[in-house]
Order: sequence, then C-alpha cells, then structure tokens
Amino acid sequence: IAGSTRSTAGRGLWSSRWVFFLAATGSAVGLGNIWKFPYITGQNGGGAFVLVYLACILAIGIPLLMAEFMIGRRGRANPEGAIAAVAREAGASRHWRRIGSMAVLTGFLILSFYAVIAGWTLAYAPAAFSGSFAGLDGKSSGALFDALLADPWQLAGYGSLVLAVTLGIVALGVRDGLERALRFMMPGLFLILLVMVGYAATTGYFMQAVEFLFAPDFSKLTGQGVLMALGHAFFTLSLASGAMMAYGSYLPAGTSIVRTSLMVALADTAVALLAGLAIFPLVFANGLEPGAGPGLIFVTLPIAFGQMPLGALVGGLFFVMLALAALTSTISLIEPAIAWLGERFGMGRVKAVLLSGAAVWLLSIGSVLSFNAWSEVTLLGKTFFDGLDFLTSNLMMPLGGLFTVLFTGWVMQRALAAQALGLEQSGGFGLWWLAIRWITPLAIALMFLHSLGLF
Ligand code: PFF
Ligand code: NA
Repeated sequence: IAGSTRSTAGRGLWSSRWVFFLAATGSAVGLGNIWKFPYITGQNGGGAFVLVYLACILAIGIPLLMAEFMIGRRGRANPEGAIAAVAREAGASRHWRRIGSMAVLTGFLILSFYAVIAGWTLAYAPAAFSGSFAGLDGKSSGALFDALLADPWQLAGYGSLVLAVTLGIVALGVRDGLERALRFMMPGLFLILLVMVGYAATTGYFMQAVEFLFAPDFSKLTGQGVLMALGHAFFTLSLASGAMMAYGSYLPAGTSIVRTSLMVALADTAVALLAGLAIFPLVFANGLEPGAGPGLIFVTLPIAFGQMPLGALVGGLFFVMLALAALTSTISLIEPAIAWLGERFGMGRVKAVLLSGAAVWLLSIGSVLSFNAWSEVTLLGKTFFDGLDFLTSNLMMPLGGLFTVLFTGWVMQRALAAQALGLEQSGGFGLWWLAIRWITPLAIALMFLHSLGLF
C-alpha cells in the first residue's frame, strides 16, 4: 500500500486500465514488429530464429515485463528514481538505480535511429497514395528505395519531422491525445495487416512462407542469431529501455499487471507474425532475397500495393498506420528521459524536451548519414546505424534485463515482490518467481556466453 500512495502527487495516473493497456501496447507495437522482425528473421534463416524468439518472449520477456510494470508502480518515479525507491524499501544499495539510468540512455539511443526509420514510412505514405507504386517489380522497387536512402536531406527531413511531432506531443503532456490516436490506430493497423495477409495468400507462395517462418532448421542459426532473437524479444516488448517502467509508474494500484502483461505480449506477437505472413509470400513470389536487410519491407510491400485492387489506398493507409504505430513507440522512448530530467534535476518539462530533443536529433543525423555519405565509415564492420542498433538491442538491453531480474528476484525478496505485484495468494506467483529468480537470469547469461562462442 505504501508504494501506491507515496509521491503520486503531481505525476498523474492513467485514466483507466484500458488506457494503460493501449499505451503499453502502443509502445510495444511498432517498427519492431513490422519492419525489424521480418528483416532479421530473413537474415537469420527463418523458423529456428522465430522459435528462439518466441521462447524468449514467453520465458524472459513476459516475466520481465511484469517486473518492470511492478517496479515502476511501486517506485512511482522515472526508471532511476523508481529503482532507487524500491531498493531503499528493500534495504539495498543505492547503486541499483544505475540500471534505471542505463535504461533511460538505452531508450534515448534507440529513439535516434528509430525516428529515422519511422521517417521512411512517412516518405512512403504519399508515394503510395499517389499510385506511384503501380507496376513496380523487384528491381524498380529496390531502385526506388535506394534513391530514398541516397538522399540525406529527405531522410533527415522526415526523421526530424518524426522527432518534432514526438517532442511536441510529449511537451504537451502525453495522455489525452495519445489515447484518442490509439483507439482507432491499433484496430486499424491490425485490419490492414489482415488484408495484406489475405493478399499474400493469393500469390501462390503462402505455404512456402509459412514453412520458412515456422519449420525450424537449426543448422541456419548462429550464436549471433540466438543473441539477436533475445535482443529482439527485448526490443519488441520495449523492455530494458525505460519505457515500460516509466509507464508502470503511472499505473493505478488496482490494475492487474499479470493480465496486462500477457495481453500486451500477445498483441505484440500477433502483429509480428502477421507481418511475417504478409511479407514473406511477396518476398518469394518476387524472387527477392529474405536476408536483404533493413529495406526488406520497403522493397517488397510496394510491389504488392502496385498490383492489388485499391492498392494505392491500402498502401497509403498502411504507411500512415505504421507511422502512427511508430509514433506511439517514439513517445514511450523519450518519456523516461523527460521524467528523469524533471525528477532528478528539477528541469521543467519544456526545457527537458528541448534539451533531449536537440541531443537526439544530432544523433539521428549520424544514422541518416550512415545510409549514404558515411556508408563506408564503419567500426567493427558496422555503420553508425548498425552499431547503435547492435549496441542497444544486443548488449544494453539484455544486460539491463539481466540486472533488472537479478534486482527483482534476489534483492527485492519474495514478500515485497509479491505485494508489489499484487499476486500474493495465487499460484501464478510461484511460476513468475521461478522465472525471475532462475530461468531468466540463467537463460540470458547462457545466451550471451553462447553468442561469444564459449560453447
Ligand atoms: N517496442 C517497439 C517496437 O517494437 O517497435 C520499439 C521500442 C519502443 C523499443 C520503446 C524500446 C522502447 F522503450
Ligand atoms: Na514490438
């Protein structure tokens, strides 16, 4: 009870559990599902990668999502402040709060390249509506995408627009506008994806795609691939980057964290799998390369929109919906930093938005240039964009997640965790506790060591 009444003054809460569910789902569902999941699945050979990814969602992602909501709600502060408060309550060292500051930094770094990719979808929306995808084939579609990447001004322009809209919404205070947008956007995106899966089923390559996605061939999976599957489970559920902990800090005391976490994970996974089913039939039907990389959906989908009935409308709506889905994620990526600047340094909301906005914008230019002027500038074989993506998804998030479950399972102790989660009496608690204390830390550690080639 102490946790739910302490220091909520001035922070505000979600107006209902439904809004909280929408906001958390809005954060989870985004480019990770529709842009990243298909392309990294393609790069890692399909089925076996998907299986490991699904196992990571179930055994690691969902327990950790519950832990993050719980810590946020108990601590009622930005990620760093929330962990500090819970650590104090548990009589533990103040240093655990560094997990929170690292999470804030992770979200900030992700935003810098996420906004650039969201910009691609913005660039594609008008092109789709105007019917300019008509008659595209694999080659001409690839050329169209290459032309976009080659133009730093366009990339920077659209990326900056995404950042400006994100920061504007966050500066105004998030919740009302977000709620209204989410109510129609989530069902809309789902519906359009269903239409596209339906279209993909007419290409004659649907079963080939199903097989690619769901028939595991473990000879195609490398240690790096396993780590990528783990990292993507974190990325897609917005874990270890402050977002879910920050959203949990606005969560009313009575809401079921277990049910919400399960629903968020289910919605997120459903969207990713639908995206895979919509895209891979097109990849095979048009003789494209599954491992083509970050451009995969931007090369394949326009071909389909150029052929299907009402394709200009469907395609335009799709890219608008995707941009909105990305926007509800970018908002959650910057909110932890804003709350952190406000609560830790007493900075006003507008000032915090301007400061973090300027910094993230500068960083985003690095990602923009990595697709053109700096495409040859690499560190350990990675461009600026690749490097940031790898650093956040494959290092910072798994490490942050590891420390978060260690903190929850071994520092908070059973009684406090059960009380904070609100699950004391039910049998579900035992399962979650087992996952948090043993399964998740061991699995993350083993996958790390495996990716380093240690066994
Ligand atoms: N989960 C988002 C997606 O799948 O697109 C990306 C993301 C949002 C990652 C917020 C991390 C985060 F804090
Ligand atoms: Na996601």
